Order: sequence, then C-alpha cells, then structure tokens
Amino acid sequence: MNDFMYYNPVRVHFGADAMSHLPEELGKFGANVLLTYGGGSIKRTGLYERVLDALRAAGKSVYELSGIMPNPRTEKVYEGIELCRKHKIDLILAVGGGSTIDCSKAIAVGAPAEGDFWESAETGIPLGVILTIPATGSELDKSAVITNFATGEKNCYDSEWEFPRFAILDPTLTYSLPKNQMVNGIVDTMSHLMELYISPPDDDFLTDNLAEAAMRTEIAAARRSIVEPTDYEARANLMWTSSFALCGMLNNGKKTDWESHCIEHPLSALFDVAHGAGLAVVHPAYLEYICESAAPRLARFARNVWGIDPAGKSESEQAKEGIAALKKFFHEELGAPATLRALGVPESCFARVAELTDLSCYSYRQLTADDVIEILRRCY
Ligand code: NZQ
Ligand code: ZN
Repeated sequence: MNDFMYYNPVRVHFGADAMSHLPEELGKFGANVLLTYGGGSIKRTGLYERVLDALRAAGKSVYELSGIMPNPRTEKVYEGIELCRKHKIDLILAVGGGSTIDCSKAIAVGAPAEGDFWESAETGIPLGVILTIPATGSELDKSAVITNFATGEKNCYDSEWEFPRFAILDPTLTYSLPKNQMVNGIVDTMSHLMELYISPPDDDFLTDNLAEAAMRTEIAAARRSIVEPTDYEARANLMWTSSFALCGMLNNGKKTDWESHCIEHPLSALFDVAHGAGLAVVHPAYLEYICESAAPRLARFARNVWGIDPAGKSESEQAKEGIAALKKFFHEELGAPATLRALGVPESCFARVAELTDLSCYSYRQLTADDVIEILRRCY
C-alpha cells in the first residue's frame, strides 16, 4: 500500500428527508446567497420553489446564476465571479449535477482571487450543494472540471477550498432523470471506480476490496433502476456509490489511473459530448488496449466484480472476459453509446484529440499520441 494523506470535510445529509436539513445549514452563513443551477430541470421538478422557500424563510437575499450548461464553460464562471463580487456573496448554493457544482466551485475560488480562477486558490466562498444527479462525485471532492471551447481544453482544477461545506443527497430528487442521463451517471461512476481500482499496487488491501464492493453495488443498483426508476433502495445506492467513489477513500494507497478520463475530456471540449457517454465508448476500449500490461489486475476485476469463473483460464483470458462483461453491461444492458460514430465524433479529429490528451495519468502502460489515435480508431 502506498503512503497517503486523507482529508474530506464535507458534511453529508443523506436520505429522503435530507432537504429538511437545509434551514440549519443556511443558518451557518451570511445573508447573501448566490443560487446556481442548470438549464431548468429544477424548475420543472418543483425543487427550485422548495429551495427558494427555504432561502426566504432563512431571511436570505438571493441572487441567481442560471443556465449552467453541461461541460460548463469559462464564460459562465466569469459571469458568476462578477455576481459574487458585486453582491458580496456569503454562500453559493449549487442545485444540480456535476456541471452546476463544478462551475460553482470555480466561482467560489475565483471570486476572491487576484488572478484567474485556476491561478490562485488561497481562499474560497463557502459552497453548499443539493445534488440532483448521481454521477461525478463532485459533491464530495475538491475538483472542478471546466471547459474552454475556444481552445478545446477541458481541465480539472483542484483546491481544498472547493470542498463543499455541506451536501444534501436526497435520492428521490433523481427520479425525474431521463434514462440517458441516469445511464451517463452510472457509466461515470463505474469509470471512476475503475480508474482508481485498475492501478497498482496489486496487493489485496482494504481500498481494493472497498472498490470491488462499490462496483458490485453500482451494477446491481443500476440493473434495478433501469427496470424500476422509482426503486428507492436502488436510487439510494446509486447516489451514495457515486459520491463515495470520489470522496478520496478509494484513492488511499493507490497510484490511480485517469487516462480514460484524459482521453474523454477533449471529446467533450471539441464536440460537447456528454461526459458519461464519452466514457462509455472510451473506457472499455482503453482497457482492451492495455489488457496485456494489466492482465493480473483485470483478471481479478473479472473474477471479483463480474463473477467470471477462472477455471482453466489464463489471466489474460479472464481479463478479456471481464472487459467483455463490462461492454455488455454498458452497451447492451444500459444502452450507452458504443462507438465514437454514435457520438458524432469524426475520424478526422483523432490527431487533434490525441494532441489535447494529457498522457501523464497512466498506471500500467504509458500511452503515446499514436496509441491514443489507435484506441480511438478501434472504437470508431
Ligand atoms: O441543466 P438541467 O436543466 O438541470 O439538466 C441537467 C443536464 O441537462 C439534467 N439533470 C440533472 N438532474 C436532473 C436532470 N434532469 C432531470 N431531473 C434531474 N433530477 O442532466 C443533465 C446533465 O447534468 P450535468 O450536471 O452536466 O451532469 P453530470 O453530473 O454528469 O456532470 C457532468 C460534468 O461534471 C464533470 C464532467 O466532465 C462534466 O463537465 N466531472 C466532474 C468531476 C468532478 N468535479 O470531480 C469528475 C468527473 O469525472 C467529471 O469530469
Ligand atoms: Zn468522470
């Protein structure tokens, strides 16, 4: 097990009654609140009114930043920073998914900063979160992923000031998700768990065993949610597994491997591909490509996550069966996109995607730009 530092200060209120804790959380912060949200789902579900009622009852002055788009853009961050400076915001309340939360995090550290939001994060405006889609784990981590469409860059900015002060996780808020968004979230969660788990060291220790349990839980809850979208236990497990995946606990002692995410990010930045949809195509293709270098770990993944019987099979054969089971789950059971063509990504952009891919996040096998092009070609 590698040495590690573990820290996570987020206070979590979890359950069907979690929203009842909003007033006590609001009471801890000053009067000026910036309410941030996306394209309008919270208005359609009635959540917007519930949140506004709580804010009014707490005597807050409420300012709003709406229309935060999936793959949130730098322009939206600057808009929020202006609002915070103008109205002396005491709390940013993000209501939505990873895009709304990430944009709010960048605003939180950018508003008090002298330079640009990614240059100096010496402090941050407090951030609270009401989560509506289990996917990114942003509600429990210190990362914000922001896209600059002008340059084709989608970058991850880390700072301890980006940790939310509180996160309200009510699984019933996810019942209204369209199926494709629920699936994007499941794929993203599985992808996070695999990025952490399919990396050295290969000893058998707590972090690996927790990650396997999290993957089995995610798969079982996904299967139930597909059949019955209002199955509370299934939704609750999807929500908590996605948050748990990136709370830091599953990094402990691991090298981690974020190369699939690094290949997906330019696809989002160049073609506005939904993050989970891009990963559904790229991550299995990446694992197939590195299969021989990671065979013992992928064989364990096959046995302990997918229940593959190892009898009479080499590690390489087990590994291949595990990846096949993952593809069947993503593409056949969940109906996630299986090819770049299905995402509208043209072959002509592969060299540009490879150029924009950060190649430093590997674990078992370092890729070159040519390797990235070959992976993209294989999943076209
Ligand atoms: O914008 P609205 O109208 O709210 O609709 C959203 C959006 O269209 C909709 N939605 C969310 N909750 C809903 C709902 N519709 C109906 N009912 C609900 N309850 O879902 C759509 C997608 O929302 P978004 O916030 O974009 O999804 P997600 O949570 O998957 O976030 C994706 C972003 O997070 C980044 C991704 O790269 C992407 O930019 N990530 C952030 C990470 C982090 N901070 O640690 C890690 C991840 O790997 C990821 O990179
Ligand atoms: Zn992700």
